[in-house]
Amino acid sequence: MKGVILAGGTGTRLYPLTRLINKHLLPVGNHPMVSYGIERLRQAGITDILMVIGKQSGGLYTQYFGSGEHFGVNLTYRVQESAGGIAEALELAKGFIAPDEKFVVLLGDNLFLDDLTPYVDKFKQQPPGSARVLLKPVKDPRRYGVPVFDPDRPDLISYIEEKPQNPKSNYSVTGIYMYDGAVFGWIQGINRSARGELEITDVNNLYARNGKLEYDVLQLWWGDAGTFESLKEAAEHMKGVLP
Ligand code: DAU
Repeated sequence: MKGVILAGGTGTRLYPLTRLINKHLLPVGNHPMVSYGIERLRQAGITDILMVIGKQSGGLYTQYFGSGEHFGVNLTYRVQESAGGIAEALELAKGFIAPDEKFVVLLGDNLFLDDLTPYVDKFKQQPPGSARVLLKPVKDPRRYGVPVFDPDRPDLISYIEEKPQNPKSNYSVTGIYMYDGAVFGWIQGINRSARGELEITDVNNLYARNGKLEYDVLQLWWGDAGTFESLKEAAEHMKGVLP
């Protein structure tokens, strides 16, 4: 199984720091943010990893991570020209993933303590063409994609609302997604949102509508490090995860 880490985007909520350096290279404890995602994939036995990066700080990624050899992984890089959305970044993995190959996608600003292995193992058992997302109960779901569960099939998500004003559950859909190559067909079927992006929630909703979106709930701490407050919180939680 392969892995894809999405580290494009602009990181405006972390200005002015992100005017200098890309968000995913900012320090979380003693390491650049995205190191933790690489480690979580490696821990789950996923060592063939594509990093989608923006143009900003491009050289710093190869300077720090190189081929991935020193981190126990094999890295490939692709560049997203401008921040056109998570699904647009994901589309750049087409060609890296075979049509029937399963893979794990991580958003580069998502930090978490769970080992992904049991979730990946469950995904391996799923039928081809289906997907799996990982959820986490949160205090303020309005900041995230929020799942609504299927009353007849509690193992499935009916649909996801992106940053709803009145969330229908207290879960967030984390930036940990599992697909196979069929996802690139679904991405073709979505349009740009009001903010001009190809939204991952629209892609996930195509799976959900077809009864093909399963989920697990993370057991340990999870957060996205998109703001200064969450960056600080993440540094506390990730202490000691990497040597
Ligand atoms: O963190 C989980 C949340 O991530 C989900 O609950 C939401 O459903 C999902 O839409 C996303 O929401 P955000 O508003 O937090 O996404 P953001 O625009 O901050 O992008 C998150 C990461 O995705 C970012 O660290 C890098 C990657 N990304 C994003 C964009 C817009 C790209 O690689 N390219 C992009 O163009």
